[in-house]
Amino acid sequence: MNIIKDSVSEILKQTIQEVYHIDWGEIKLENPPKKELGDFCFGPFILAKQIGKNPAMISGELKNILEKNTNFLEVTVAWPYLNFKLSYDFYTELFLNESMKIPNVWAWKTIVVDYIWANVWKPLHIGHMCTPNQGQVTCNLFRLLGYNVIWDSHIGDWWIIFWKLILAYKLWGDKEKLKENAVNHLFELYVKITAESENDETLEEKTRAEFKLLSEWNAESIELWKEFTSYSISAMQIQLDRLNVKPDFDIGESFYEGIGLPKIGNYPDLQYKMSDIVQELTQKKIATQNEDGSVWVIFQENSKIPSCILAKRDGTHGYLASDLAAIKYRKENWNPEKIIYHIDVRQDLHFKQAFEIASSASWIEKSKLFFAGNGFIALKTGAMSTRKGNIIKLEDLLDEAVERAKKILLEKNPEVSEKDLKEISEIIWIWAIKYGYLSKSRTTDVIFDWDEFMTFDWNSFPYVAYSYVRALRVLEKSWISLDDIKSSQVNEKFSTPEQVSLYKDIWAFNETMLQATENITHHNIVLYAYNLAKSFSAFYNAVNILAEEKEDKKVLNLKLIEKYIETQKLVFEVLAIKLPEKM
Ligand code: ARG
Repeated sequence: MNIIKDSVSEILKQTIQEVYHIDWGEIKLENPPKKELGDFCFGPFILAKQIGKNPAMISGELKNILEKNTNFLEVTVAWPYLNFKLSYDFYTELFLNESMKIPNVWAWKTIVVDYIWANVWKPLHIGHMCTPNQGQVTCNLFRLLGYNVIWDSHIGDWWIIFWKLILAYKLWGDKEKLKENAVNHLFELYVKITAESENDETLEEKTRAEFKLLSEWNAESIELWKEFTSYSISAMQIQLDRLNVKPDFDIGESFYEGIGLPKIGNYPDLQYKMSDIVQELTQKKIATQNEDGSVWVIFQENSKIPSCILAKRDGTHGYLASDLAAIKYRKENWNPEKIIYHIDVRQDLHFKQAFEIASSASWIEKSKLFFAGNGFIALKTGAMSTRKGNIIKLEDLLDEAVERAKKILLEKNPEVSEKDLKEISEIIWIWAIKYGYLSKSRTTDVIFDWDEFMTFDWNSFPYVAYSYVRALRVLEKSWISLDDIKSSQVNEKFSTPEQVSLYKDIWAFNETMLQATENITHHNIVLYAYNLAKSFSAFYNAVNILAEEKEDKKVLNLKLIEKYIETQKLVFEVLAIKLPEKM
């Protein structure tokens, strides 16, 4: 699938045929240990064995012939390897004639992405810089590659906390506050009832009564459930919008309980209640019932997985049962190629258990379940002025980013208009912290540092955005329309290493994207964007673009800039970050 590699292989194959008269099936090219050595290298070891010659000698003989080939800029022997550098002509040819189509061969495959990691009663907090941002990249990435992607938040809207909330609302709730910001109000109620429960033992019993009412389809309870959930989802979405994150579905944990609460969204009906799942697992002898009536899964000793509870004595289910039900539901309704979970790495064991059980029950192969755990994120202490209460709300974090941005921008340019100030700070700096976060590898713990993320100096969003805006300006100033740039034929070749490097980086787009899907390594996409921007800057500084007198030469460079812009746009579409048009 790599045209460059394939072309070199083909030339090499023909040469071997010519010199040694053997048809060499597949040539295995490797990447040299250092970029400077060449684009590819070849070790003629097997060939040497077959024809009974010393490998270095073979490399020498091949070199003598290959260096005359105009596709190569340089062929060298680094004992006993052959190193190839492709010529400027080769790259120009490729650039002008090959479209860089994204391999789109998976249109019939589905991926389910489980992300966001939110609960109805808890405001999004600094930890929600992690799974929503990571997960959205996964969704966009697979969609770019042609998959059918289902984005589900598996929102927490159930269990005892939820029943408590209904009770608390009946006792102290305020309809207006609920409408205005459901999550914040529910959080207040949650804190209050947790505190009150310490002194008032009757609350526990009352909580259970609320559960009973809800499962019996009491109209008032159902109405409250619906309001809590739908208002909360809307309130959270306001913050998620600022991060350019939006799930398709919020299929809550309560859905899998199977008591028939109304659906919020358009997804298939449930086929199995949680109790059916527990029954199935018991029948399959994966789960066993204890004397006290609770149901447990005990794993084989050599698996070293601790046993876990599926259903309590009173028949209520827990977190594990909801994830098991979700796996079965997703498999039966969407038959996904993979279900990818973007969840705090501390839930690792929970998912190990769930995946083990689901595969033992033959619902889905374990290889189709991927836990993309993320490390935690914490603020450098004392770094945020708006910290309220005991959680750092995402909302406050994003507001703070905007405030800080305004200060920096005003310092740099006191004349900036109010409108630009507002727009630029909202755009650039929220994206700057998002970019900064995504530039770290998924599993590392991140200490959130404003100064590190808000800089123009190294791998940062401002740096990349600036290079993008600069490219836009060059095209603008050329006074040639984009259509003309794209369609005009040029009879000119690359003539500098900076052009070739930039093009090689552009070309690496597909490979970068495909590689990122393997282990969900989004920081490599960010690194790619940065390297691309660096190559562009080097090109911009080295090459005479607008002042070029030879029209073909100028257009060739403009074409390259256009490709750079297009590629960077795609990268940032995947990262779910909006690139600015001006800075
Ligand atoms: N509500 C869960 C929690 O608070 C998050 C849900 C994550 N997704 C999942 N499939 N378990 O931890």
